[in-house]
Amino acid sequence: MYYMNKFRILGPKKLKGKIKISGSKNSALAIIFISLLTEKPITLKNVPYIQDIDIAIKILTKLGVKIDRREFMKIDSSKICNKFFSCSLIKYIRASIWLLPAIIIRWGSGELLLPGGCSIGNRPVDLHIWGLKELGVKIKFNRNYLKIDSINKLIGKTICFNKISVGATITVMSVATLAYGITIIKNAARDPEIIDIANFLNKLGAKIINAGESKIIIVGVKYLKGCIYSIMSDRIETGTFLTAAAVSGGDVLCYNTCVSNLKIVLKKLQFTGAKITYGQDWVRLNMIDKCLRSVNINTAPYPSFPTDMQSQFTLLNSVSNGSSIITENIFENRFMHVAEFIKMGARLKIKNNKIICHGVKKLIGNKVNATDLRSSISLVLAGCIADGITVVKNIHHIYRGYESIKNKLNSLGAVIECI
Ligand code: UD1
Repeated sequence: MYYMNKFRILGPKKLKGKIKISGSKNSALAIIFISLLTEKPITLKNVPYIQDIDIAIKILTKLGVKIDRREFMKIDSSKICNKFFSCSLIKYIRASIWLLPAIIIRWGSGELLLPGGCSIGNRPVDLHIWGLKELGVKIKFNRNYLKIDSINKLIGKTICFNKISVGATITVMSVATLAYGITIIKNAARDPEIIDIANFLNKLGAKIINAGESKIIIVGVKYLKGCIYSIMSDRIETGTFLTAAAVSGGDVLCYNTCVSNLKIVLKKLQFTGAKITYGQDWVRLNMIDKCLRSVNINTAPYPSFPTDMQSQFTLLNSVSNGSSIITENIFENRFMHVAEFIKMGARLKIKNNKIICHGVKKLIGNKVNATDLRSSISLVLAGCIADGITVVKNIHHIYRGYESIKNKLNSLGAVIECI
């Protein structure tokens, strides 16, 4: 599967041109799994062609779900069996945790192998479990499994998370759509993906009010129907291509995107000295002949700076004028890219949950190792702007979340080949 597992990149190149942004990875993954809440047919548009989606399709196919993936994705889960919940693919993607709503609603009992995902830290699921227990789900850990015992009735109630979690908000919001009475989720995640998933569920007939606020209200309904739904654009892909323009001194226009989801990222990019222009569904960053200024970053739940853009901004600060500090507040092990940037000449130091960055004029090509999705894209961008040849190993991580990434970057003037 990963035969050509390295990128060989010749730099430095200024990245210039237009990029069509794909559908949101995180939103699409959740929606695909959550669509099992209804037996009726679902048609999804703007689903990205990425490996995590392929894995989700394989998992669901093993469950008996019929998926027709052409221009649109058609999902028919009218005839599903639950005997493959232990399928080993579940460990590959974090999003498989959203099989829980289907187990709870369609069967009322079952087991689910604990999901995996990128290795960016310890990724517990305690908040998902706690929230479900509050709704009346009998769920417990059984070695590597989550075990759900038969449920009599799901009853809506007020659930206040002690920590903001995107995943747990999605889990509880989805199950609560079919609980009896009203559920109020307090301290909910406010990410655009939460709004997209709520919009999808509402199109199925759910009654979710206030998604995108920290207090979400869900009025339980008896059943959900089918629908046709278009997935939102990927805000992290957009931010990544804009950062590519910034670090390379280039000029990139992203279209098929949603600018209002990117406010803090655009603000930080503007601070670096970039010229940013935008309309509702496009944004352009021009860095030609401009001097890149370093910028401090604190990752935190939306609407603050996204942790999924941290490694890209580590690259940005590595090659900008001045010194800066990046503080990672979401995942404890999201610094794997730092040692690799240092191999390329970056002056970075990790201190607790901070990266202290002193900008250098140039990075030098080297052999580096990708360890997760976002570190891999940042290393590829580093290769595009470094002098000489960079080889990024274990590039399979990048295919998990970036559609046609080699072709998209090469269309902007990068010189990347698979080896
Ligand atoms: C989702 C995204 C991921 C993004 C992250 C934060 C998907 C598939 N992934 O991950 O790309 O980086 O949001 O924006 O949508 N936590 C607990 N207990 C739990 C759940 C989470 O302690 O039960 C902690 C996590 O360890 C982390 C923090 O809460 O420190 C936030 O995690 P969460 O928002 O849940 O991230 P994910 O849903 O895993």
